[in-house]
Amino acid sequence: MRSQERFSAVQAEALLREWTQSASLVKHGLAVARCTESYGLREAQRLGMSAEESARLAEVYRCAGLLHDFDYERHPTPEEHPFVGVKFLRVQGWPEEILHAILAHAEYSGVAPESHLDKALFAGDELAGFLTACALVKPSRAIADVEVAGVEKKMKDKAFARAVKREDILRGAELLGVPLQEHIGNCLRAMQEHAQELGL
Ligand SMILES: [Fe+2]
Repeated sequence: MRSQERFSAVQAEALLREWTQSASLVKHGLAVARCTESYGLREAQRLGMSAEESARLAEVYRCAGLLHDFDYERHPTPEEHPFVGVKFLRVQGWPEEILHAILAHAEYSGVAPESHLDKALFAGDELAGFLTACALVKPSRAIADVEVAGVEKKMKDKAFARAVKREDILRGAELLGVPLQEHIGNCLRAMQEHAQELGL
């Protein structure tokens, strides 16, 4: 896909930062991008891609994560988000597979998660937020100190990070066909590997 080469994670991150004042919303985009990217790398491995192809695929996944909420601060209502952002990206010529994933991450959009990228983005979104919440209650506030078992325990604690929908985390793992524990482990590792970037 030619258009893919013209659009990079650098540009996606720049757009996210340009449209978003809130530091935590920027960090959310960065975190979801790393979780989603990790599934791109796994998919590339499954497909037996070369290193170059795999890096390209992972970047598409990362871009979807970076851009999935980039319009949210300016256009937070379900009437506008993510439709305004997708329209803007389409005019710019971003790949349709990224736009489809962004639409599918909002359940009310009427676009269902179909591709592996759609599912990876949906699955990374709610979990990245929950993992961030798990890190921030550690005395160190470090994602390095978060463990899968602790995350599972906190998922059962209804009072903890109430805004995070547990059913979306479960549905994400189910969509990807990955056991919940493994899904938590995958995203946790992805965020730990980029802890510095995420400020965690
Ligand atoms: Fe999000």
